[in-house]
Amino acid sequence: MGQPSPDSSRLLPRPFRVTRVRRELSDVWTLELHATDGEGPVTFRPGQFTMLYAFGVGEVPVSISGDPAKPDVLVHTIRAVGAVTRAVCAAKKDDVLGVRGPYGEGWPVEAALGGDVVIMAGGLGLAPLRPLVRAVVARRGTFGRVVLMIGARTPASLLFSREVSRWRSRFDLEVRATVDASDPTWKGEVGVITALLPRATFEPATTTAFVCGPEVMMRFAAAELVQRGVPPERVFLSMERNMKCAVGVCGHCQFGPAFVCKDGPVFPYSRIAAGLRIREV
Ligand SMILES: Cc1cc2nc3c(=O)[nH]c(=O)nc-3n(C[C@H](O)[C@H](O)[C@H](O)COP(=O)(O)OP(=O)(O)OC[C@H]3O[C@@H](n4cnc5c(N)ncnc54)[C@H](O)[C@@H]3O)c2cc1C
Ligand code: FES
Repeated sequence: MGQPSPDSSRLLPRPFRVTRVRRELSDVWTLELHATDGEGPVTFRPGQFTMLYAFGVGEVPVSISGDPAKPDVLVHTIRAVGAVTRAVCAAKKDDVLGVRGPYGEGWPVEAALGGDVVIMAGGLGLAPLRPLVRAVVARRGTFGRVVLMIGARTPASLLFSREVSRWRSRFDLEVRATVDASDPTWKGEVGVITALLPRATFEPATTTAFVCGPEVMMRFAAAELVQRGVPPERVFLSMERNMKCAVGVCGHCQFGPAFVCKDGPVFPYSRIAAGLRIREV
């Protein structure tokens, strides 16, 4: 018997121990995981995902929400919506989960160097964008203006609120947040995330935009960014589709001629605009 081929090894889950569990929102948890097989950490690019396996229950794609500069700890932020995500979110310290990956094409951070950066996050969409924000902050001097816009349903559903406050306190980031429904504690904007765009300061022609959230939000955000003058090939969206293999073999994640697992999940708007419109009709 020879060595397993690289492709088959990419299909085998590695054991990772849960080292920390933090409840972010009523239905969202962040897990920190460490590899237990001695094969080293998961080095990843912002926007990539892993296949997370709750043994005996099933496997789901989940974006990496940690810091790309700290690959020793694998961080995932997960909303409990169904059988597998509920099992993953119920994991306790020292439980073991399976991890395959990282997979996919992430946010093209390099494409934004030298120009302005606009980041738009709707709801849980801030989780796949957090590694990008951290990467941009780590090299802040190499970008122009950086605008972060965040939308949430309510003030209580604003993700990573402490970290967002830290970003807000920086003089070199423009951070704007809005909620659909306010409460007496909320001092910020009320309304949809695209309503924040007109007041955001950036030079459209040199801007690279990164957008993640519900598909309808991404469709409106991308269209408005393009209307404002951001080139459609510089507007990047992270797509979600059901997945099985995550390596471009099974076809479950087909999106037009592309596979979300292998060609995405991050795509330029110029490539997928037509597919987005068809799906929303
Ligand atoms: C590339 C990629 C990255 C992802 N990153 C994350 C992440 O960082 N964090 C995270 O929590 N999830 C993420 N997801 C979504 C996650 O994979 C799904 O929520 C998960 O597959 C649901 O599986 P389940 O067995 O728990 O629920 P299922 O039994 O598959 O679904 C239960 C119910 O929830 C609904 N549902 C399924 N997916 C979603 C969803 N995304 N949002 C709301 N309702 C849903 C279903 O329609 C169904 O009604 C990502 C998906 C992809 C493709
Ligand atoms: S999940 Fe199998 S091809 Fe993408």
